[in-house]
Amino acid sequence: MSGTAGGGGVAIRARGVRKHFGRTEALRGVDVTAERGSVLALLGPNGAGKTTMVRILTTLLRPDAGQVEIAGFDAIREANEVRYRIGLAGQQAAVDEYLSGRANLEMVGRLYHLPTRAARQRADELLDRFGLAEAGQRLVRTYSGGMRRRLDLAASLVAAPPILFLDEPTTGLDPRSRVGMWEEIEALVDGGTTLLLTTQYLEEADRLADQIVVIDAGKAVATGTPDELKRSVGGERVDVRLRETRQLEAARQAIAEATGRTPDVDAESGHLTVPVDAGAAALTAVVRELDAADVGIEDIALRRPTLDEVFFKLTGHAAGDLSPDGEQIVRGARREEVS
Ligand SMILES: Nc1ncnc2c1ncn2[C@@H]1O[C@H](COP(=O)(O)OP(=O)(O)O)[C@@H](O)[C@H]1O
Ligand SMILES: [Mg+2]
Repeated sequence: MSGTAGGGGVAIRARGVRKHFGRTEALRGVDVTAERGSVLALLGPNGAGKTTMVRILTTLLRPDAGQVEIAGFDAIREANEVRYRIGLAGQQAAVDEYLSGRANLEMVGRLYHLPTRAARQRADELLDRFGLAEAGQRLVRTYSGGMRRRLDLAASLVAAPPILFLDEPTTGLDPRSRVGMWEEIEALVDGGTTLLLTTQYLEEADRLADQIVVIDAGKAVATGTPDELKRSVGGERVDVRLRETRQLEAARQAIAEATGRTPDVDAESGHLTVPVDAGAAALTAVVRELDAADVGIEDIALRRPTLDEVFFKLTGHAAGDLSPDGEQIVRGARREEVS
C-alpha cells in the first residue's frame, strides 16, 4: 500500500482491532475512521481501552488482530512511514523534568534530525505559540500541570505532523487551562491537522469532535456526530414541574392537547415530560394550553439530550462512573431521571 497524496480521503482507519493483556480484553474488535482534516473523539470512562487504542494507532503496540492504516500506510508493516506523519501527546507528559522547556523542545527537534539552528528556531516558535516564551528557560519541574500539558502538546508538534493523537489532553487541568487547551486544539484543526483525541469529558467531545466513537469495556458502542448521538436518545422534550400535584390530570390533558402526545408523569414530584419535534413552538403551545386550563407552573423548560444522557443510555452507567476495578458506582438522583 502506498500513502495518500493531496487533500481529502481517510487519515485514520482501523478495523476489528483486538488486544488482550493476560485475561483482560482491553479491545474487543474496534473500528474507527477519521477523514483528513477532521476531529475524531474516542469517548469513554477509565479502563475503556482508549489508551490501548491510541498506542496501537501510533505503532507503539501491536494488536492481536485487526487492520490499522494511518495516512494510507499499514501501522504494522510500514510503521516508520506512519511515524513520520504523526504526533502523539500521551496521558502522562513525556517531558524531562530536569531540562528547561526550551531544551526539551530542542531535544525533540534533534531526535527528528532537525539541524541545531532549525531545532532552536522551532522550539522558540512553539514556546511562543503556547504561551511558554517566558517560562522557556525554567526547568520543567517548576511548571504547573497546565504548563506541562502545553509543553507536551508543543513537543508533539515539533515535526509539524499532519496527524495528531492526543490522549486525554485536558484530564487533570483546571477549567481555565482546559478552555485554553481547547482553543489551542481548535487552532491546530483550523490549520488542517487531522486529530484523534481521547476523553472522558462529554462536553469536550461535544465541543471539539466532528465524529465521536463511544467506547466502553473494549467495544465501540456508538459512532456518530455529536448531534446524531443526541438525537439517538430521543431528541428534544418539554419538561414541566407543577406548582400543585393535584393538577396533574388537568396538566396531562393540556399537554396532550398541545403536543398530540401523552406525557410521562411523575405523580410524586408533579413532573411531566413529553417528547416534541418543533422545539420552541411546542414549548409555547404547552404554556398556552396549561394557562388556558388554569394549571400553575413551577418550572418549564425545553431540553435537548446531553451527551451524558447518551452515554448513560448506551452503557447503563455515566461516563466518569467506573471505579478502577470496573465496578459501577451508583450516584442515585441523576440516573433516575434519564431512562
Ligand atoms: N500494559 C498493560 N498490562 C495489563 N493491562 C493493561 C495494560 N494496559 C492496559 N491494560 C488494561 O486494559 C484495559 C484498558 O486500559 P486503557 O486502554 O488504559 O483504558 P483507558 O485509556 O480507556 O482508561 C484496562 O482494564 C487496563 O487495566
Ligand atoms: Mg487512558
